[in-house]
Amino acid sequence: MNVNITSLPYSKKAPVPMITRWKSPSNIALVKYWGKRDHQIPQNSSLSFSLNTSFTDTQVSVRPKTEKGGDLIALKLYLDEVRNPKFEDKIVTWFKQLITDAPYLSQFEWEIKTSNTFPHSSGIASSASGMSALALCLTDIEYKVYGKWDKTEDFYRRASYLARLGSGSACRSVYGGYTVWGKHDAIAGSSDLYALSVSKYIHPDFASMHDAIMIVSRSEKSVSSRAGHSLMNSHPFASQRYLQAQQNMENLLNFIQNGDFEGFAEIVENEALTLHSLMMSSVQSFILLQPNSLEIIHRIRNYRKRTGVPVCFTIDAGPNIHVLYPEKAREEVLSFIQNELIEFCDQQYWIDDKTGTGPSKVIL
Ligand code: DP6
Repeated sequence: MNVNITSLPYSKKAPVPMITRWKSPSNIALVKYWGKRDHQIPQNSSLSFSLNTSFTDTQVSVRPKTEKGGDLIALKLYLDEVRNPKFEDKIVTWFKQLITDAPYLSQFEWEIKTSNTFPHSSGIASSASGMSALALCLTDIEYKVYGKWDKTEDFYRRASYLARLGSGSACRSVYGGYTVWGKHDAIAGSSDLYALSVSKYIHPDFASMHDAIMIVSRSEKSVSSRAGHSLMNSHPFASQRYLQAQQNMENLLNFIQNGDFEGFAEIVENEALTLHSLMMSSVQSFILLQPNSLEIIHRIRNYRKRTGVPVCFTIDAGPNIHVLYPEKAREEVLSFIQNELIEFCDQQYWIDDKTGTGPSKVIL
C-alpha cells in the first residue's frame, strides 16, 4: 500500500516534456463530509457515488523550468481555453501544500488545460471532478518519473491522497461507483487519508442509481464549502453530528448491500437535511434552501408515499435538489419530474445523470 512517493524508487530521469490527460467525474455524497481538522482530515467518514456525464477533462503538460525559481510554482491554467487567474491561485496553493509529498512540483513548468461538461454554478461540485482529474494527471506524471507503481490499486490510492489535499470530496472521485472516505471501524481498509471503493458490496438495484439534478438556482452559493467546514469547529452540535454520521454510514451500507430502498431513503434524506440544519444552526447562520427547494422535497416525499415508487432526494451545500432513483423506476420518475418538478427549476433546467464507472485516461 503506497501513498508516499518517497517510498518509490527514482528509477529514471524524467522524460520531459511530458503530457497526460484524464477525465474524472464529480460525485454526490449520501453521507456528508462536513467538518474537518488538521490537514484535510475529515471529522467523520462519508459515502458518495461518482456521476457519469458530469466530469472534468484535464490535460497537463510539463517541461523543465527555464528560469531558476527555487521552490516557486510555475503554472499556467486555462479553463475553456482562457487563462484563469482565480483557479491558477487555487492550484498554486494546493501545489505548495504538496511540495513535501511531491518535490518535483517546483522543478517543472506546468501548463494545465481544463474544461467541465457541466455548467459553472449548476450545483455540481467542480472542485471534486477538477481536483481529482488533476490529481490523476499528477500521479501519471509521477509514474513516468519514478517508475512503476506496484499495483493499480496503489496508483489510485496515491491519486486519491493527492486529490484529498486539494479538496476533500475530490478524493472520492478517483473511483467509479460507490466510494467511502474516512476511517470507520466497521469498514476494513477505510482511511482518513484516501478513499476506498465499496462498489463490490452494492446490491444490483443500487449499482445503477440515477441522479436527476433539479436546478432551483444557478446563482453562486453564499457559503463556500471551505468556509462551511470551519463553521463546524465551533458548532454546538458538532460532536453529536460526527457520531450520527458514523452510525448513518453503517446503516446505509447495510441497506445498500441488501437492496432496501426505504431504509436508504430515510438515511440519505436525513443526511441532506442534517447538513442544512447544521448550516442554519451555525454561529454564523446560512439558509441555502429556497422555497422551490422545499416544494420539490415535499413533492418527492408525497409521491413516494402515494405511489410506492422508489425515489428520494439528497442536497449538496446549495439550493438544488438531487432526485435519486434506481434504473427500474426510470420511466415513472421521468414522468413525475416532467409533470411535477420541472416547474420549480430555474427555466425548467435539470441535469440527467447517474452512477458512472469512474475516471478514464485519454489516449493522446
Ligand atoms: C457538502 O470537499 O468541497 O459537498 O475539502 O474544503 O474542498 P473542501 O470541501 P468540499 O466539501 C464537500 C461538502 C459537501 C459534502 C460532501 O461532498 O461530502
